[in-house]
Amino acid sequence: MAFIEASGLTKTYTPRGAGPVHALDGLELGVAQGTVTALLGPNGAGKTTAVKVFTTLIRPTAGIARIDGIDVLTQPERIRPIIGVSGQYAAVDENLTGFENLDMVGRLYHLGAVQSRIRAQELITLFDLEEAKNRPVKGFSGGMRRRIDLAGALVTRPKVLFLDEPTTGLDPRSRLGMWDIINTLVGQGTTVLLTTQYLEEADQLADSISVIDYGKVIAKGTSDELKASIGGQRVEITLVDPADSAATVEVLRRFGDSEPTTTAEGRELTVNASDAPRALQSILAELGDRGIRLFDAGMRRPTLDDVFLRLTGHSATAEAADAASAEASSASAAPAKAASAKRERTTKKERSRS
Ligand SMILES: Nc1ncnc2c1ncn2[C@@H]1O[C@H](COP(=O)(O)OP(=O)(O)OP(=O)(O)O)[C@@H](O)[C@H]1O
Ligand SMILES: [Mg+2]
Repeated sequence: MAFIEASGLTKTYTPRGAGPVHALDGLELGVAQGTVTALLGPNGAGKTTAVKVFTTLIRPTAGIARIDGIDVLTQPERIRPIIGVSGQYAAVDENLTGFENLDMVGRLYHLGAVQSRIRAQELITLFDLEEAKNRPVKGFSGGMRRRIDLAGALVTRPKVLFLDEPTTGLDPRSRLGMWDIINTLVGQGTTVLLTTQYLEEADQLADSISVIDYGKVIAKGTSDELKASIGGQRVEITLVDPADSAATVEVLRRFGDSEPTTTAEGRELTVNASDAPRALQSILAELGDRGIRLFDAGMRRPTLDDVFLRLTGHSATAEAADAASAEASSASAAPAKAASAKRERTTKKERSRS
């Protein structure tokens, strides 16, 4: 049985003077205990709405939501003690220091004065916020705010963590730091549902990805499964001279497995190939024979963006606009470390199973 579960989850808003908005439209979801599931979707897909339902902040119009078998709708008072949430916008008291914010959360949850202070200090250390400990939050950078907000969600050591776009607005280094923290928590047994617009983030962190659009899951699987579902690798060729485009298409068609695609300027060409290394070799040899000059050539596995384009007819990053594209690409050097953290985690899990 899934640890976090949604079935037919629906939330319809009827704003005054406008038609109904189906923020959730029969969402189906199952997250196994101790794993990370990413809800991946563009702006307005329903990610925050789903998190708000699970964290008892709003009531759905219809459907079932359960955590550890407990019904979120009928027993919210049993849900609140076992969950932690870090919302899309950091919820911190601007006038308190980093330490005071965490201490306050502990007291609100009745940890007692001594335990609250001990836990606050542990989290300050874990999140590397020592220098911000005694400064009011209003002077914090966005990244520090995010960290103190997530730290606040961890005060009670929740079994289940909901993270709504945990790294939006963070620079590549802070994003990596956040990924490390999330991986550590999952390594310790926390079950995580996170939302993201970053394909890279879902790819690196999540055991399972549910792609959502218009309040529905439109695809689900591991990152590899989603990529495999749209075919093998790609061979990509960039020409020096777009005049060579037609001849290159002919070559790609011969050695690839799909109809080649060409960018508008005709310089960049792509073809699917189940055996990409072999196709690339043949293509390069043939282009060489024909004297066609190359600016770049290579192969790549399909990205989650390709998956999104295939499933919805539009690119996820185009929808997520500037936020995703600029930052995701500048973070491209970063994923290796988090990826290896995920692998380590998997290995650990596999070891404990056997
Ligand atoms: N209180 C509300 N009243 C009316 N419509 C709402 C309300 N809250 C959300 N919506 C609508 O529901 C849809 C889903 O919103 P939601 O915030 O869940 O999207 P999201 O996936 O979190 O998007 P983002 O990536 O921008 O955070 C949107 O069309 C949004 O405009
Ligand atoms: Mg949102």
